[in-house]
Amino acid sequence: MDNLDQIVGEARAAFAALSDPDALEQAKARFLGKSGQITELLKGLGKLPPEEKKTAGAAINVAKTAVENALNERREAIRQAALEARLAEEALDVTLPGRSEQRGGLHPVTRSLERIEALFASIGFEVADGPEIEDDFHNFTALNTPEDHPARSMHDTFYLQNPDGSLADKVLLRTHTSPIQARYMQAHVAKYGHLTHMPEIRIIAPGRVYRVDSDATHSPMFHQVEGLWVGEDVSFADLKGVIADFLRSFFETDDLSVRFRPSFFPFTEPSAEIDVAFMSGALKGRWLEIAGCGMVHPNVLKIAGIDPEKYTGFAFGFGPDRLTMLRYGVNDLRLFFEGDLRFLRQFA
Ligand code: DAH
Repeated sequence: MDNLDQIVGEARAAFAALSDPDALEQAKARFLGKSGQITELLKGLGKLPPEEKKTAGAAINVAKTAVENALNERREAIRQAALEARLAEEALDVTLPGRSEQRGGLHPVTRSLERIEALFASIGFEVADGPEIEDDFHNFTALNTPEDHPARSMHDTFYLQNPDGSLADKVLLRTHTSPIQARYMQAHVAKYGHLTHMPEIRIIAPGRVYRVDSDATHSPMFHQVEGLWVGEDVSFADLKGVIADFLRSFFETDDLSVRFRPSFFPFTEPSAEIDVAFMSGALKGRWLEIAGCGMVHPNVLKIAGIDPEKYTGFAFGFGPDRLTMLRYGVNDLRLFFEGDLRFLRQFA
């Protein structure tokens, strides 16, 4: 049957001309589809006399197989070509030097915070936490801070707005970590208040705090580490001992002096500012202020539900950014928060 050879020839030519897989499948329909040329021939077999049916049927099937083979070969060739094109495109130059892993490092302030936590943990202080978006009660009232205290003013404190722009009801970015004292004492009393002997409170609370302030030694966001020790016989002498030991460990030197300078904080009485002076090095002999501290004010204990007749405590608030500047000899606080890798890599 010449016709069959012609169909097979046409199919081969049609397939060979195509290199797109979809187009190839469409071309297949012309020969093998429902009304394709080969299919039509097979359909026509029924009309032939029985003696011709067999030979014609066999011949058509041979042609059908030939078309199918041509189709499969072309499919495979297209697939192969696509693979080769992809391999060529994605070729790897294995002779290029490898890209080494970029290793990060801890931020210098994070390093200080970890050091501080570890040093206080070694004398039994737990790490406590509190929210950075704080309410007026915990940030001020619970800390015996009167309504007219300057820290409550809009110039010093970031108050939060409602979505419509109005001022939220006494919600602010905490101005210090001291509210964690108030929160911790309240929770402690809720947990143990019914016991005759309440377990001691010994916490430090590191965290970010916010004030409207910006120059070489002030950033609107900075860190503090709050400390609180409340128990039955906690005294100012304990405070002095803990602080002096801590500073010698933190700076890894005994070559420093610590002084407690009388000061005022609403939540402590008496209150002091802690100054440190190194006896050697670039800062030799200069007194540097690094913390506030004092004996927890009876009102603060009372507001938290602790009996000030039975319990006393001391508290302190460090500036770990300041400690980090001193430890590494950095003279501009803002460098810590600008994210300049040339600066930060020096500590990694
Ligand atoms: N909260 C104070 C401040 O931000 C620092 C401070 C002073 C904390 C005395 C204390 C403290 O716990 O006893 O200026």
